[in-house]
Amino acid sequence: MDKQYDTRVLPVTEASLAEAGDWIRRGELVGMPTETVYGLAADALNPEAVSRIFKAKGRPQDNPLIVHISAMEELYPLVKEVPPAALQLAEAFWPGPMTLIFPKADCIPMEVSAGLDTVGIRMPGSLAARQMIAASGRPIAAPSANRSGKPSPTTAEHVLRDMAGRIPLILDGGPCQVGVESSVIDARGPVPVILRPGGITPEMVRSVCGDVRLDEHVMKAAEAGEKVRSPGMKYRHYAPVAKVTILRCGEEEKLASALCRAYDEAEKKGEVPAILGFDGAAYGGRRVLSLGSFHHPEDAAQRLFAALRRLDETDVTHAFCAATEEGGIGLAVMNRMGRAAAFDIVDL
Ligand code: TXA
Ligand code: MG
Repeated sequence: MDKQYDTRVLPVTEASLAEAGDWIRRGELVGMPTETVYGLAADALNPEAVSRIFKAKGRPQDNPLIVHISAMEELYPLVKEVPPAALQLAEAFWPGPMTLIFPKADCIPMEVSAGLDTVGIRMPGSLAARQMIAASGRPIAAPSANRSGKPSPTTAEHVLRDMAGRIPLILDGGPCQVGVESSVIDARGPVPVILRPGGITPEMVRSVCGDVRLDEHVMKAAEAGEKVRSPGMKYRHYAPVAKVTILRCGEEEKLASALCRAYDEAEKKGEVPAILGFDGAAYGGRRVLSLGSFHHPEDAAQRLFAALRRLDETDVTHAFCAATEEGGIGLAVMNRMGRAAAFDIVDL
């Protein structure tokens, strides 16, 4: 695609929010901060604007987009019905890092739903995001603002890297607080199913609905041609140029020494290794990118995508990644890490 825009990055102010709203109403794209990752925003009811998203990202046309709202009353015109479990979850966790699947109303264009008869809707926890949606006066379709296949952006700088020249404006709301994309939950049936883990954890869903299931594709790759409930599961995601191998072990010290051994063996084979590890572990001067504290998966959630992007700026050919525990948001971290590694996981 030819470069068309002199992309500007502006802090979130009344003036920049108003300008973002203008661009959206004119059918253009804006980089939008949210608490999960930055989104590439367009008017969800304008098919031409939505098509621009797919072009700017290089995204497969069969992967549907999430529609973002700023208040509960904006939900009803977009859906055919609100299933009881979905309403319970919305009341408990909106605004927040959770997308719910609904039967879609006729006003949702094909370009958004990618041919499905459902639509994913989310009310972001980020105030800047809700202000931008309100300023545009439209429901906002927004995938993560990365080029397709790259790690999702968690800073305005990441968005600029991927989208410079492709969009007119990025609002800079600072680094994303959650750092991994929203939980995608299908709560149309009696037991809610988590299609993509995120900041709203299985434990949290169970506390509201009494039960929860994880889709089988959360921790494994979909086979070629396999039918999946969430089209995004099919695609290789978050992949840096370097090969990624995950080492998993509940004991922090044993994990650190295994990472060091794998690093040294790779180096002997002529690879350029790096460790994605935890603060305070002994890595003896080896090349390390930190995912924060071993005991706080929230840290790894905030830092993982930036670390994967950072790898691409180095000559590292093989990254050895320390697995986090899978409780809480750790499940989302392991799902994203697993995809970056094409589920190459070594259990110690
Ligand atoms: O946190 C987020 O959700 C971010 C921010 C920008 O809000 N957005 C985001 O969008 O991650 P995207 O397009 O990168 O991922 C959307 C995911 C995909 O895996 C897609 O397959 C799934 O949600 N999805 C969307 N609509 C769906 C539907 N109707 N049924 C099942 N899965 C759906
Ligand atoms: Mg994405």
